[in-house]
Amino acid sequence: MFDKEVYISRRKRLLEQVKDGVILLMGNSEASCNYPDNQYQFRQDSSFLYFFGLDKPDLAAVIDAETGAETIFGNDVDIDDIIWMGPQPLIADQAASVGVAGSAPFAKLADCLKEAQKKGRTIHYLPPYRNHNKILLHQMLGIGFGELKARASVELIKAVVALRLIKEPCEIEEIDKACNLGYTMHLTAMKMMRLGMVEQELVGIMEGVCKSGGVMTSFPTILSQRGETLHNHNHAGILTEGKLCVIDAGVEIASHYCSDNTRTLPTGGKFTQKQKDVYTIVVTANDYAREAARPGVTYRDVHLGAAKIIVQGLKNLCLVHGDVEEMVAAGVQGLFMPHGLGHNMGLDVHDMEDLGENYVGYDPDQTRAKQLGLGSLRMARKLVPGHVITDEPGIYFIPALIEQWKREGHNAQYIDFAKLESYYDFGGIRLEDDLLITPTGSRILGAKRLPITVEEIENTMYTD
Ligand code: GLY
Ligand code: MN
Repeated sequence: MFDKEVYISRRKRLLEQVKDGVILLMGNSEASCNYPDNQYQFRQDSSFLYFFGLDKPDLAAVIDAETGAETIFGNDVDIDDIIWMGPQPLIADQAASVGVAGSAPFAKLADCLKEAQKKGRTIHYLPPYRNHNKILLHQMLGIGFGELKARASVELIKAVVALRLIKEPCEIEEIDKACNLGYTMHLTAMKMMRLGMVEQELVGIMEGVCKSGGVMTSFPTILSQRGETLHNHNHAGILTEGKLCVIDAGVEIASHYCSDNTRTLPTGGKFTQKQKDVYTIVVTANDYAREAARPGVTYRDVHLGAAKIIVQGLKNLCLVHGDVEEMVAAGVQGLFMPHGLGHNMGLDVHDMEDLGENYVGYDPDQTRAKQLGLGSLRMARKLVPGHVITDEPGIYFIPALIEQWKREGHNAQYIDFAKLESYYDFGGIRLEDDLLITPTGSRILGAKRLPITVEEIENTMYTD
């Protein structure tokens, strides 16, 4: 938790943007796994954490946007709770610790909201993503489940996004810490990968490092020799000579700030020439994106610049042919990189995705493309200092997608489908760093960049 002045200042800035009605921010509850008392690790709602810092279940907060009065709703523990959980601070003391003067039992929240509704006041709430909060909002506000998302406050969403998008120095310090732990986690995997291991063994080693220094992974670890499947959570493969293994993994530290890195490793520690040829293109695209990312440039243009490098590289390998600008305009790169260059990162690994990807990643004058790849770009905005984004280009050979384009003749004039058949067992490559946009450019978050060049990777693997 930061100093209480941080939360007071954030709420003050929120009220500069939302000037009337009542702001309701819901915290999260425990979520059961397979029976009520066996719960997933508790994860507080990120916007609640951002404005109130309180990392406990079953809390909600109301801010009267006209008077500025603030109340935390939650229940003090009873003796049964104390027996199982130990003593807990009173809700009033928790509220005071983050500069909130008011507190009340959770049951009073419904009364408070009814009172506001009776007076015809707007109740600003964020789109709920947990069923428990959907039920509560439905019960308290009388809004149908199907309408809850549509009736969330766009004014509040935009205000929260505007604040959370620009990271404060205290947040950057936390993200640097998360990236340092992420570095150790990935470096451990690089050193400890061995032929014959089941992928899951390496997942376990990595997540052990993550949990030893943090609280959880920032998303389910992706570790697979079938890296052409973008989010492959199947870790049953046995590490086999000559394959590439995509490792996309991040940590969440105690303050809940995240890291997200991807490296692609040759299973035996050395790349084949064919792998090097494709790998080097992705390194070049990653380096280009970091160098191009600076204030005033849109990340959409950086995505398209990286796409140009990828298409040029594939042209050099004679997998595509034609004018590079023309191919990028036609979306040829979507066959090889059907995802966006990156996303915002902070308290969420895909920061604020619960609030709506377009509100978070697109300026009001930008519209989301439909093209494969560019259409999945989660961060397109004009960059400003304080943005924290990922830089994660990739090249994948997805047989089903290639076959579909071939069948449909999609961009057939540019693509050598026959030659691509020899890549059907290649897999995929993704290389991801986390960037902070600075006043003059960008920097990689964390003290050190993970090994990335062919030489750096080969010199690091199998060294323990
Ligand atoms: N690292 C997973 C993702 O960005 O989707
Ligand atoms: Mn990512």
